[in-house]
Amino acid sequence: MKTTVAIVNEPGQPFLLEEVEIDEPRADEVLVRIVATGLCHTDLSLRDTLPAEMFPRVFGHEGAGVVEQVGADVTGITVGDHVLMSFRSCRECAKCAEGLVGYCDQSMMFNYMGFRMDGSTTHHRDGNPVYASFFGQSSMAQHAIAYADNCVVVDKSLDLATLAPYGCGFQTGAGTVLNIFEPGPDDSLVVFGCGAVGLAAIVAAKASGCGTIVAVDLMASRLEVAEKYGAVAVDPGALGEQSVVDKVKELTGGGASYAIDTTAISAVVKQAQQSLAMRGTLVALGLGAEEYAIDAIDLLQSGKVIRSSVEGESDPQEMIPRLIAMRAAGDFDVDDLVTTYSFDQIQQAIDDVTSGAVVKPVLVW
Ligand SMILES: NC(=O)c1ccc[n+]([C@@H]2O[C@H](COP(=O)([O-])OP(=O)(O)OC[C@H]3O[C@@H](n4cnc5c(N)ncnc54)[C@H](O)[C@@H]3O)[C@@H](O)[C@H]2O)c1
Ligand SMILES: [Zn+2]
Ligand SMILES: [Zn+2]
Repeated sequence: MKTTVAIVNEPGQPFLLEEVEIDEPRADEVLVRIVATGLCHTDLSLRDTLPAEMFPRVFGHEGAGVVEQVGADVTGITVGDHVLMSFRSCRECAKCAEGLVGYCDQSMMFNYMGFRMDGSTTHHRDGNPVYASFFGQSSMAQHAIAYADNCVVVDKSLDLATLAPYGCGFQTGAGTVLNIFEPGPDDSLVVFGCGAVGLAAIVAAKASGCGTIVAVDLMASRLEVAEKYGAVAVDPGALGEQSVVDKVKELTGGGASYAIDTTAISAVVKQAQQSLAMRGTLVALGLGAEEYAIDAIDLLQSGKVIRSSVEGESDPQEMIPRLIAMRAAGDFDVDDLVTTYSFDQIQQAIDDVTSGAVVKPVLVW
């Protein structure tokens, strides 16, 4: 059938709404009518950096919608179900068996290549392939083909536009805190970069009872939100002679137990490392840099850990319901971070998140 997608014809080109052909779902696939899709920084980074031969392409990986068709082999999902979509995993390899589905052996094929395992694309235009299957959904579209492993069925009373970003941005920030740090009252966390990912981490840290939370960002609007969520705000431009590292050490009594970087800026990652206390852990979540500078002298004498995380070590089938339950209990209130835009306002949404006017744009039909 035909459906409207936001297609990108070449790297760095705009998202254009266009009708293309979408396959009938195969036995292991479901067809989802998209209600809302969050815009994550990763959509923009990969739009700009993937090689030309991977285009034309459909992005979107925080989709939410209503199931319209279910393949014969799919279990646990029925027509009419409301689903949040996240990343794909095989659920059979050793990493998946451990629950670490973000590190699935098939992750690259399932989430990034743009076609099925047999090489076919789910979408076509004028008989030519359109690369889709992005995070097993390509949900910047009116319809998406998805899978049982990346669809999380949610209660029909929930607002899909509000919850769409749970599929990536919110899950990644919150998961990093809940799965890796598990902070308590004696701990401190510093977050460099307070977009959707960083702010979700701050909210989860507050809910966990983390003693001190420090938020670093260049944008006053983002710092205001971080303060509302219980963080102490640090604007590097307003410190005068004092360095950011010294400020964080002052606020955390000698250095933070945990740090998150979402900026993907080498100099900032180094500051995050230097802001840690002895044996502290930094999780670098940002996408965009090719290399990071490490302070080797500091690293050698401190036992610090510098690591990454795919989606905050989340299994979406576990983390999304957990965050929805936390939201219902009043412990994960990120609803205000979402601003909705109609799909034909995609460029406005990008401009607004880039300028800092909004935190998490969600596109709705
Ligand atoms: N690891 C994962 O699984 C995963 C998942 C989702 C997103 N990401 C990545 O996480 C990053 C954050 O995503 P987002 O949607 O929150 O992006 P965002 O652009 O909304 O947030 C980044 C923030 O960093 C701030 N910043 C920029 N320069 C800074 C500096 N020098 N010092 C302090 N702050 C600075 C910006 O003002 C902005 O608020 C992106 O790189 C995205 O691709 C990774
Ligand atoms: Zn796997
Ligand atoms: Zn994302």
